[in-house]
Amino acid sequence: MAKDKFKVAIIGAGMIANAAHIPAWKDLPNDVEIVAVMDVFEANAQNTAKMHGIPKAYTNAEKMLEECKPDIVSVCTPNCYHKQYTILSLEAGAHVLCEKPVATSARDAAEMFDTAERVGKLLFVGQTMRWSGNVIAAKELVDLGKLGEMYYAETASLRRRGVPKWGMFHMKEHNAGGPLYDIGVHSLDALLWIMGNPKVIAASGATYLKIANRDEGLRTSLADSGAPLGLFTPRPYDYREFNVEDFGVGFMRLEGGATIYLKASWAANIAEGMGGTFILGTEGGLKLQPLTYVTNMGSYMVDVTPHVPQERQVAFFGHFKECEHFVRVIRGEEKELLVKRAEALNVMRALDAIYKSAEVGHEVPVEDVN
Ligand SMILES: NC(=O)c1ccc[n+]([C@@H]2O[C@H](COP(=O)([O-])OP(=O)(O)OC[C@H]3O[C@@H](n4cnc5c(N)ncnc54)[C@H](O)[C@@H]3O)[C@@H](O)[C@H]2O)c1
Repeated sequence: MAKDKFKVAIIGAGMIANAAHIPAWKDLPNDVEIVAVMDVFEANAQNTAKMHGIPKAYTNAEKMLEECKPDIVSVCTPNCYHKQYTILSLEAGAHVLCEKPVATSARDAAEMFDTAERVGKLLFVGQTMRWSGNVIAAKELVDLGKLGEMYYAETASLRRRGVPKWGMFHMKEHNAGGPLYDIGVHSLDALLWIMGNPKVIAASGATYLKIANRDEGLRTSLADSGAPLGLFTPRPYDYREFNVEDFGVGFMRLEGGATIYLKASWAANIAEGMGGTFILGTEGGLKLQPLTYVTNMGSYMVDVTPHVPQERQVAFFGHFKECEHFVRVIRGEEKELLVKRAEALNVMRALDAIYKSAEVGHEVPVEDVN
């Protein structure tokens, strides 16, 4: 192995490891080499190693870290295990790319970042939506002041029938939450980033489980539930085990007076075209999909369609960008990580408050939860 190549290890050998992290790391052959993969289910570790030509497969993370001494670890387990493996890997001397949501509470996330700071390693959260061309363009328009004062925004990631029917997404014990943690966290993170990361100070939320815990006998596709390349490590799925929300909603108050609405569903009786993201400002408004900027010119209202360059046509494009960026930052070729500690904690605190509010039935100040 060339001397300056980073050794990468993967923890959690499921859909996202096989479909996104491993291909993205392999796309950087001059920078990294995947040396090992670990999964509690031996077959997943073994099959993943075989499929991608990874030299070693483990069922014990400590052993893998000890024997392989990776420079970078991709944490790709269900949400409830992000914290333990991130801290373990950081303490073993690796930088960590951790899947979203970074943790299942802001407190845990803070502990993970504290550990990274203490051991002098980087913790990078996989908020891949930030690499979307439309999100980057929207942020630029906002940074140019084209919206003026932003006072209201909405973001809705709505799937009519898109429950991930693999792994353990549907079980609280392993993932802690449903679509709010799965797809809501992406759209909330992207929206707050576009808006310049205003602090969320309070939230009122509600969660529902009305549809996904019954067998409707519908034919649904894996692609519709977020696995466009199919599954590499299928596991049995039982709708009777479904105990997270299938629809969640949160109304948030931001420092400075703006408010935002977040909605996320895996199963809801929605019509085509509901959902998406928009921001209202005093000088203009933005819609993310398709990207449209509205404002006034002279005595006319105008709609502007920015021409966003085509992204590379590859599934999980954001993972390719984030792995490359992570390597550049570790090498000191780029100054700082795109996803900062304060931003990740702001998102986690908001989600904590939404879930808490859903539990208690009234608005909850973020500081009361954390
Ligand atoms: N950024 C994205 O677009 C995106 C998309 C899908 C999933 N994800 C995230 O990736 C993570 C994994 O999702 P997935 O779709 O790959 O799920 P998955 O169920 O397909 O894979 C998870 C893997 O972790 C293994 N595992 C379970 N418990 C473990 C433990 N305690 N220790 C070690 N391994 C364990 C499972 O055997 C499985 O192989 C989740 O946090 C999810 O939110 C991100």
